[in-house]
Amino acid sequence: MKVAVTAASGNLGGEIVKATTLVVGHQNVIGLARTPVKASHLGVEVRKGDYSNREDLEASLQGIDTVLIVSGMDAPDQRIEQHRNVIQAAKTAGVTKIVYTSVQGAEEGTKFSPIIQSHRQTEEDVRNSGLSWVIGRNGIYIEPDVEYIETYKKVGEIANCAGNGKCGYTTRSELAYAYARMLTEEMHNNKTYNLHGEAITQAQLAEYLNLAFDTQLIYREMTVDEYRQERIAALGDFMGNLIAGIYEGIREGKADNHSNFLEAAGRGHQSWLDYFRLLKAAK
Ligand SMILES: NC(=O)c1ccc[n+]([C@@H]2O[C@H](COP(=O)([O-])OP(=O)(O)OC[C@H]3O[C@@H](n4cnc5c(N)ncnc54)[C@H](OP(=O)(O)O)[C@@H]3O)[C@@H](O)[C@H]2O)c1
Repeated sequence: MKVAVTAASGNLGGEIVKATTLVVGHQNVIGLARTPVKASHLGVEVRKGDYSNREDLEASLQGIDTVLIVSGMDAPDQRIEQHRNVIQAAKTAGVTKIVYTSVQGAEEGTKFSPIIQSHRQTEEDVRNSGLSWVIGRNGIYIEPDVEYIETYKKVGEIANCAGNGKCGYTTRSELAYAYARMLTEEMHNNKTYNLHGEAITQAQLAEYLNLAFDTQLIYREMTVDEYRQERIAALGDFMGNLIAGIYEGIREGKADNHSNFLEAAGRGHQSWLDYFRLLKAAK
């Protein structure tokens, strides 16, 4: 079985390449990348894979049985077309199965909803491709909060508009473990999975960070408007609105869903206690 993973130069794509090689071997995994040189460290064959270049995608997908499409980063309308390029190229090249990394979140009513809707459109395109498919709706990565620790330390708090809303966070390595199985096991075909660990509040997140980094962070709730204005001032209109939209969705419970991680991965998601204890031990 030959498996191709797109966006292999990125964090998630790279992790999925590594996890899949452990299942089917290095020789059976091909990384696709817009910038192939950035994926050369993975120790697998890397081919060209810009989502905007259908010809290259078609050539790169020759001989591939299953392709994983990592969602792109461009504006929603552009992403939909880029993902369609990969789907179409896969069909033309004779690929038999597509796995797509989608996302959970508020489908309506927030400034992040257009991104969620673009994922839902690609899900529909994948389901209608005529090929076998599996869709993972990823939870929110927890790593950015960990990487933000120095800033949190300076201000002594996590402040946002999520309120008491619970968020089903995950990590890229846990996702990669699940995707490696979704790619290589037929039992997942034609299923849509929510992929995340135990859902936690922002106050619980602060406690876990305190455990790992010996900090005394507190959680402070802001209104959606306050948080949006604060994020726009820090990050500009586009990103500020997007980030506030994500936390607004958490506030509304849209990131607190039933997790199918066990079914997808064949084992439970790493617990947050274990994750943060390991971070503490690694310091
Ligand atoms: N669940 C979450 O919390 C969360 C958070 C952020 C993003 N996401 C989504 O998850 C995806 C993967 O996350 P990540 O952490 O791996 O992001 P990342 O490390 O920033 O990697 C993004 C990857 O997308 C590739 N890419 C962008 N545009 C492309 C195009 N036109 N054609 C081919 N490849 C393209 C990049 O290629 P280059 O190396 O050439 O730039 C890179 O490999 C993101 O793209 C985004 O859709 C999810």
